[in-house]
Amino acid sequence: MKISFASLGFPSSGAVVVGVKEGAVLTPSAAKCDKKTDGAVTRAIGASRFTGAKGQSLEILAPAGIKNSRVLLVGYGGGLDKLAQQALGGRICAHMNQVGEKDAHVLLDDDLEGAAGVAAQIALGARLKAYRYDRYRTKESKDKKPTLKSLSMRLKGAGAARGIFQSLDAVADGVFFTRDLVSAPPNELYPETFANRAKELTKLGVKVEVLNEKQMAKLGMGSLLGVGQGSERESKLVIMQWNGAAASKQPIAFVGKGVTFDTGGISIKPAAGMEDMKWDMGGAGTVAGLMKALAGRKAKANVIGILGLVENMPDGNAQRPGDVVTSMSGQTIEVINTDAEGRLVLADALWYTQDRFKPQFIVDLATLTGAIIMGLGHEYAGLFSNDDKLSENLFAAGNATNEKVWRLPMHDAYDKQINSDIADMKNIGGRPAGSITAAQFLLRFVKKTPWAHLDIAGMAWSTKDTDTIPKGGTGYGVLLLDRLVRDYYEG
Ligand code: BES
Ligand code: MN
Ligand code: ZN
Repeated sequence: MKISFASLGFPSSGAVVVGVKEGAVLTPSAAKCDKKTDGAVTRAIGASRFTGAKGQSLEILAPAGIKNSRVLLVGYGGGLDKLAQQALGGRICAHMNQVGEKDAHVLLDDDLEGAAGVAAQIALGARLKAYRYDRYRTKESKDKKPTLKSLSMRLKGAGAARGIFQSLDAVADGVFFTRDLVSAPPNELYPETFANRAKELTKLGVKVEVLNEKQMAKLGMGSLLGVGQGSERESKLVIMQWNGAAASKQPIAFVGKGVTFDTGGISIKPAAGMEDMKWDMGGAGTVAGLMKALAGRKAKANVIGILGLVENMPDGNAQRPGDVVTSMSGQTIEVINTDAEGRLVLADALWYTQDRFKPQFIVDLATLTGAIIMGLGHEYAGLFSNDDKLSENLFAAGNATNEKVWRLPMHDAYDKQINSDIADMKNIGGRPAGSITAAQFLLRFVKKTPWAHLDIAGMAWSTKDTDTIPKGGTGYGVLLLDRLVRDYYEG
């Protein structure tokens, strides 16, 4: 779908989208449609329950007096905030594809406050909704394919809208990169191929390094390597750097769990639903997408992205429950359950990040625990942190982007649950507070750095369509962290 911005003229073909305010008050463009069609808009509203309330829409097909295929009235209610503008864009896109429209024009009047920003947000919503993961569909019939080829936003000040959209468009590219990675099947996407995808970002100016098992062994990453040792696929650590600010500026860092498939290892998972564990690399997927977004929009920040990539498989060489591994930090870990593997990967990735880059702060993302889905469902990611300011900033960024986070407690009392009888710690803390003890485990690998952990197990994948997110990999976290960087760490 091509998105364009043009001046506010009346389109001579395709669909016309115009706003109606609460109480069926026509915007100037809606009134223009009404006039050109000899009152069809007013009559259609009168014949329906459409009142212009937020979320409502009413379609008038092929009205006499104009050449357009349809007029879509959309409810503005008492005004739309940014998120509602995005949702509207998503719904317009979905509607046009549903009815088989090829060409749509959204008319935004001069009296609309901040029309350029509104146009850009609607366009972003439409683009996010238009995403499809269809590379493995070879037999889809034509009537199932999306039809909308062109969406034009028409307003006075199209240039300004185009300018705002340019950076949002780059962020959408990042979201799509994440969705592609998360939705990819695990025979296609494994540590090496994931690392290769990350290397594509060099085209955007991102510096990408990939460590192999030998190099990681030399660094002492026994915790991460233990997880991958039952897999035929070699584990990898990807280090990405985007330097958009002065070299003197201390970087910020994002670390992602990238378990490209999680069978549970020897502590094997039940068969039902195991295919979901292809998206156990969601944290790393988000970090990769974020780097693409930041580089794409040339963010004025120095940003490190680290991906811990492993495949957790049962095998003759696999890690056993009871094994003790030594992490890069020097701390030893008794592996009680090989299915609590994400924290083992992050332990070394977090340590490496601090050791090498001494960042201002670290945010890690991981599909870490099933327990977080029990606690928060699919509405909020769990937030765990040693820093109130970073937590507040993440909370605000979450509300601004609808990628919400909710902070849960951390405390020494929980930390005790992971003490081991024979090593420095064990990798599970028993049934109570499973997401918190996982976070406490990670905290043992955080020095004095401000740190936040996002447990995104409930957020990385969706089984239903929403206004701007088709089902499948959601790309959760890219908009959130892009917003965090924009609002608090740029400039
Ligand atoms: N990848 C899973 C967590 C998960 C579960 C993500 C469901 C997405 C959906 C993680 O590696 C895991 O297996 N966690 C265990 C931890 C337990 C063994 C302490 C869990 O949540 O059951
Ligand atoms: Mn697991
Ligand atoms: Zn896992």
